Amino acid sequence: MRSSNSSWFKVGVFFILISGAVLLPAGLRAEALAPQVVLMPLPYAQNALEPHISSATIGFHHGKHHAAYVNKANELMAAPQFQGKKPLEVMLMAAKDPALANLFNNLAQAINHEFFWLCLKPNGGGEPPAGPLAEAIVKSFGRWAKCREELEAAALSQFGSGWAWLVADGDTLKVVKTGNAETPVTQGLKPLLTIDVWEHAYYLDFQNRRAAFVKAVLDHLINWEFVAANFARPGPYAPLEPSAEPKQKPSEP
Ligand SMILES: [Fe+2]
Repeated sequence: MRSSNSSWFKVGVFFILISGAVLLPAGLRAEALAPQVVLMPLPYAQNALEPHISSATIGFHHGKHHAAYVNKANELMAAPQFQGKKPLEVMLMAAKDPALANLFNNLAQAINHEFFWLCLKPNGGGEPPAGPLAEAIVKSFGRWAKCREELEAAALSQFGSGWAWLVADGDTLKVVKTGNAETPVTQGLKPLLTIDVWEHAYYLDFQNRRAAFVKAVLDHLINWEFVAANFARPGPYAPLEPSAEPKQKPSEP
């Protein structure tokens, strides 16, 4: 009897080892190799940007629009051809291939939105604080007011949906605008700051008054610390990916 129990124990251990060595790692490996982006939790409360951007706007914009881009991008990045790549690499691949336009649009929008949320904070805006970024702005534009003028012009002249950006082109800072999901990253430019000018970003609060929305963002919401960090980093901001840490198990009943 003792011997029989021992045998079954050995069979059990063998099965666990086989499962662990072959089945689980294979499953985990496939999951780990598929690039993914995440719906980054907002770095502030949903109502923290009021009265400039309402809690309702942020709720829809982050919880519905951004979330939909993340979900669709992850679904499309599960294809075997993207395994082992980083989301930014996949985005650059997709930008060059018309057959991957749907992936590009969703993935670029997921990344653009994460970047946009980080560009904002309560009680931000105004002039950039003294430092290397402020010096680079003066060097490229003459003064902050000129840079701001160009940002406003780009945001207002973008026909239909899109984005206004402050970017670094090597050592030179520039203002550019992009349509729909397009990002300056595909042009070899490094984004420092962006303003989302899709109507979903402002319509509940400002209706057709895009200029008032852009002014509110520039006057009150720009997170200059994040913009300065983008200026200091060697390459473009890389989006968050799912943590390698195991997910917390739900508590036992
Ligand atoms: Fe948006």
